[in-house]
Parts: sequence; C-alpha cells; structure tokens
Amino acid sequence: MGEDEEPQAEVGVGPWEGAWPDDPRLDPELLREGDRRNVVDAYRYWSMDAIVADLDARRHPFHVVVENWQHDHNIGSIVRSANAFLAAEVHIVGRRRWNRRGAMVTDRYQHVRHHPSVEDFVAWARTAGVALVAIDNVPGSRPLERESLPRECALVFGQEGPGLSDEMLAAVDVVLEIAQFGSTRSLNVGAAAAIAMHSWVVQHADLPR
Ligand SMILES: C[S@@+](CC[C@H](N)C(=O)[O-])C[C@H]1O[C@@H](n2cnc3c(N)ncnc32)[C@H](O)[C@@H]1O
Repeated sequence: MGEDEEPQAEVGVGPWEGAWPDDPRLDPELLREGDRRNVVDAYRYWSMDAIVADLDARRHPFHVVVENWQHDHNIGSIVRSANAFLAAEVHIVGRRRWNRRGAMVTDRYQHVRHHPSVEDFVAWARTAGVALVAIDNVPGSRPLERESLPRECALVFGQEGPGLSDEMLAAVDVVLEIAQFGSTRSLNVGAAAAIAMHSWVVQHADLPR
C-alpha cells in the first residue's frame, strides 16, 4: 500500500455461520468462503445466475445507449449506473470493445448488447418499439427538466469529444438537454447518463415511501 492510500475496509460477509441453508439460489462456494462482491446485502451468498434472474424479473423498461467510435472510457461508469437504476439493457453502438474498469464488475449483472452501426441499432429500436430519446446539448434540444420521458424508451448518449453523431441525431424522436449554469460546454457523459437515468426513475419507478 502506498503512503497516500487509505487502508481499504473489507466489504461483504465471511463464511456462512450456523445451520447450512438449502436455498437453491445460494452459492455453496460463497457460503464456504464468504461473499466479498460489490452486491447489495439482500443478494449476499446468492449465485450470479440467481441474482441476474431476480433482476430480470424486475428490470425497468428504459434502455441506455452509448455511441462508441473512439473507445470511450466512460462506458464502464454508464454500465454501473444502468445496473444501479436497473435498466433493461445497455446498447453499445460502434466499436464492440469498451473499457470495463469503471463498471466495477456490474456488467456481469447487466445485459449489454452491441450494434455495429447506427442503422443496426435503429432497426433494433423499431422492432422493440421503444422511443428514442437523445440526451445532448445541441441547438434545438428541449429541457430534460421540463419534459416527460416515455416509460418505454432508449436514452441515447454521445461520447466525450464529438458527442452524438449526426446519423444518430437524425434518427431519434427527440433531443433533451440537462440544464447547465457554468462555463463548461458540457458535462462528462457518465455524469449526464446518471442524471438522465435518475430523471426516468423519478418519473416512473416504484419508489420506496
Ligand atoms: C462531452 S459531451 C459532447 C458534446 C457536447 N454536445 C458539446 O457541445 O461539447 C458528451 C456527451 O455527454 C452528454 N452530455 C454532456 N453534457 C450534457 C448536457 N448538458 N445535456 C445533455 N447531455 C449532455 C451527451 O450525451 C453528449 O453527447
């Protein structure tokens, strides 16, 4: 450990104590060895397949789409937020490869689909019947804060630098922007994606009282 690094507190739980449970969702190895994964406490000791099946039964009907023409290193953090807000799927449009580091392993619990071109992605969206809502601050964008998001929709993000491609902007139903007040031209795309997903959650999710 370097001088500047804080000692990391151990997360999770140790080996199972007490009578051996017979719940088929629980993973015998995690029960034996302990569960130190980045999962909520309700999923402690559950096998990955059991967790994914449980998430699949509750996923929200919004999709997250990000263009990936230049290996955007923010995609991992977008996948992590999509997992946290329980998006139906994440769609990567463009290059297949993306940097998984920021995902913190959350991609194992999140369906991630690749589309080699905007045309392929739009064909999928038309078949799936989801509205295409681009999130970008380009001329003509409407304010996200004052718009209703469709329940079944795909929130489409551009990448750092170029933003959304002209082809994608031409294909979407609407473009919404997040209000800014400072001097920077734009937010980091990972931050913009988290804000837009949270807007969907505020409008449509079954929130705890
Ligand atoms: C760094 S921005 C790129 C370009 C931006 N349109 C510009 O003029 O500089 C990358 C992506 O982040 C998202 N983004 C950043 N700031 C945003 C904002 N204020 N409103 C909506 N989306 C934003 C968009 O999806 C955008 O394509």
